[in-house]
Amino acid sequence: MLLTSVLFLFASAVKIVSGADWCYQSQVTCSNLTCSGPDLWGGISPPCDGRSQSPVNIVTRRLLIDERLSPFQFTGYQETFHGRLLNSGHSLQLDLPSSIQINGGNLATTYKAVQLHIHWGKDGSPGSEHTVDGEQFPMEMHIVHIKEEYDSLSQAVRDPSGVAVLGFLFEESSSANKKFDPLINALKSITQPTNITTLEGVFLDMLIPAQKNLTKYFRYDGSLTTPDCAEAVVWSLFTSTVQLSREQIAAFNELQFSDGKPMAKTYRPVQPLNGRQMYYSAGHAAVVSTVLLISSVLVSTVGALS
Ligand SMILES: *[C@@H]1O[C@H](CO)[C@@H](O)[C@H](O)[C@H]1NC(C)=O
Ligand SMILES: *[C@@H]1O[C@H](CO)[C@@H](O)[C@H](O)[C@H]1NC(C)=O
Ligand SMILES: *[C@@H]1O[C@H](CO)[C@@H](O)[C@H](O)[C@H]1NC(C)=O
Ligand SMILES: [Zn+2]
Repeated sequence: MLLTSVLFLFASAVKIVSGADWCYQSQVTCSNLTCSGPDLWGGISPPCDGRSQSPVNIVTRRLLIDERLSPFQFTGYQETFHGRLLNSGHSLQLDLPSSIQINGGNLATTYKAVQLHIHWGKDGSPGSEHTVDGEQFPMEMHIVHIKEEYDSLSQAVRDPSGVAVLGFLFEESSSANKKFDPLINALKSITQPTNITTLEGVFLDMLIPAQKNLTKYFRYDGSLTTPDCAEAVVWSLFTSTVQLSREQIAAFNELQFSDGKPMAKTYRPVQPLNGRQMYYSAGHAAVVSTVLLISSVLVSTVGALS
């Protein structure tokens, strides 16, 4: 009888935890156990307890330079589009047209864009997901792409390299980044979860550093950083940062979680590497041009000798 009750209680407890929505650590309080913070995500989605999770801390002295990490070709990044902008309850999400694509960067095939979203802190405090030598940045943007052959993210995550995420770290600058104004001005239309608006007349190059500055990036195999944490992501995290003013960064706190509190500290803590190697492109373009320069000097020297 007692055992049955204990088992029943246990089963109920498990059910409550597995039925709870996931949330960030900043939403967990001792008196409120209605949401599952990052430590409990594995109870909602077992892949979150896997061995190749994201984000991670990048230790620069352990990076291996990989010459195959060539520059990306960005297709459609300069084309204006109208995108659905949504408060997802955990972040803001901008849906992207599949005509936006990436190639190169030692990716196996063409990947098409699905959506972008951003992670941030509170009133300008650190809020990036990845850290570099332990340093956390104010914000981090993820442009999520899937292999061209798939129809949806849920289909792509069944392939261990089905998803390619481009990650951009943000830094605070003294002046405002005007190119971010259309996005920041739209935040007041989506303050509450499920609110949707249309972002008009934007193109992706507005939101990232100049393409010529995107030859240096870190590469590793990891996961989505929210449940279900699928281990299906080829990560590329650029060293060139996006610059926003303090006011622009703070504007993201206008968004609210479902409990009406400011949406803040929307990042997962860094996860163990578990022996994974991290790679660095080292700006392949520069290496190539040096090699070309040397060969042309050799050619002209050989030409002069003969
Ligand atoms: C935002 O969502 C809330 C809650 O669902 C709703 O009451 C409100 O009208 C929405 N606002 C807009 C601008 O759509
Ligand atoms: C690109 O890099 C150069 C040199 O490091 C820098 O001066 C410039 O501001 C960068 N441009 C962008 C848009 O990040
Ligand atoms: C507990 O958290 C949930 C989800 O964030 C929220 O809806 C609810 O209002 C909170 N309850 C209390 C007592 O804070
Ligand atoms: Zn993300």
